[in-house]
Amino acid sequence: MIQENISLKPYNTFGVDVSARYFAEVNSAEELTETLKHSNPQTPKLFLGGGSNLLLTKDFDGVVIRLNLKGITDEIINENEVFVTAKAGENWHQFVMFCLEKNYGGLENLSLIPGNVGTSPMQNIGAYGTEIKDVFESCKVLNLETLELETLNSEQCRFGYRDSIFKQEGKGKYVILEVTFRLTTNIHRIDVEYGAIQSELEKMEIINPTIQDVSKAVINIRQSKLPNPKEIGNAGSFFKNPTIPLAQYETLKLKFENIPGYPNGDFVKVPAGWLIEQCGWKGKQIGNVASHKLQALVIINATGNATGKEIFDFSTMIIDSVKEKYGIELEREVNII
Ligand code: EPU
Repeated sequence: MIQENISLKPYNTFGVDVSARYFAEVNSAEELTETLKHSNPQTPKLFLGGGSNLLLTKDFDGVVIRLNLKGITDEIINENEVFVTAKAGENWHQFVMFCLEKNYGGLENLSLIPGNVGTSPMQNIGAYGTEIKDVFESCKVLNLETLELETLNSEQCRFGYRDSIFKQEGKGKYVILEVTFRLTTNIHRIDVEYGAIQSELEKMEIINPTIQDVSKAVINIRQSKLPNPKEIGNAGSFFKNPTIPLAQYETLKLKFENIPGYPNGDFVKVPAGWLIEQCGWKGKQIGNVASHKLQALVIINATGNATGKEIFDFSTMIIDSVKEKYGIELEREVNII
């Protein structure tokens, strides 16, 4: 059923109030194909998952299709591995909890990330040393050009840091319908390299952590410094951490000796949160928008009344000041619509 003039405020985690000319919710691949066949190909389409990685800057003069496909299945493939498949509309964190209850390992570091399973491959979601590409097996997509179903493997998805084919040449071409992960059943790969996890586990007095312990530690860390989108509108990290050439990093280090950096070949990844904080933005509010007081990389809808344009303009001010002070151009991670 297609509805008209619907507010999208409940459907984006920034809580921005814009409206969609048309709005439809689909519960299956068949419903999606039917909806597309009945709509004018010229009408702009926006496919929505959990709405946790987008900034809506204006009313959408087209059809918004909310993907509400539900269901999780698992298939043991050998003595230590299982394929777990979740439909696009499953909430990410609930899916991670499902896997942990079954003692399936691989997703625990990604606990409490907002959004739905169907959007997780788009930006190759990652946190605390794990990215979904590490456990991704394949995804089933609808090709919007042919209206045929296709299965894409990890290589075809071309995952990179916060990046995939779905943000590049495949942008607007595919709708992700379900994702399959290859997880472990007995011998798990516990990844607690990330400093913050180690100190949290120490605080919890755990020496040999299980995957459930790692999840608990990640949840504690996230809850202590990232705002809950149900309480304060936000879309997680607003910018990517920039990667700059080693030579540029070394020059910057002469002037700013405390600048943190994580070397990666001839490049260095610099934490955007640090750059933004050093430019005086951490906790700063202008009108309805602010940079979060505990994590500068997260922009928040501080009053609940921010418009998408205000948030966008605030992010431009941050980009300009980081560029001026450090000569580094921050790139937005969030999709701007
Ligand atoms: N930092 C500051 N000030 C800040 C924030 C960070 O100085 O306000 C510096 C600190 O030096 C800190 C370093 O940045 O040691 C790294 O901070 P943090 O561990 O919080 O991670 P991040 O690089 O800021 C990335 C992801 C997060 C993910 C965390 C943990 C990106 C764009 N963001 O943030 O992802 O949870 O690592 O792995 O890569 C998200 O994408 O929405 C998200 C929250």
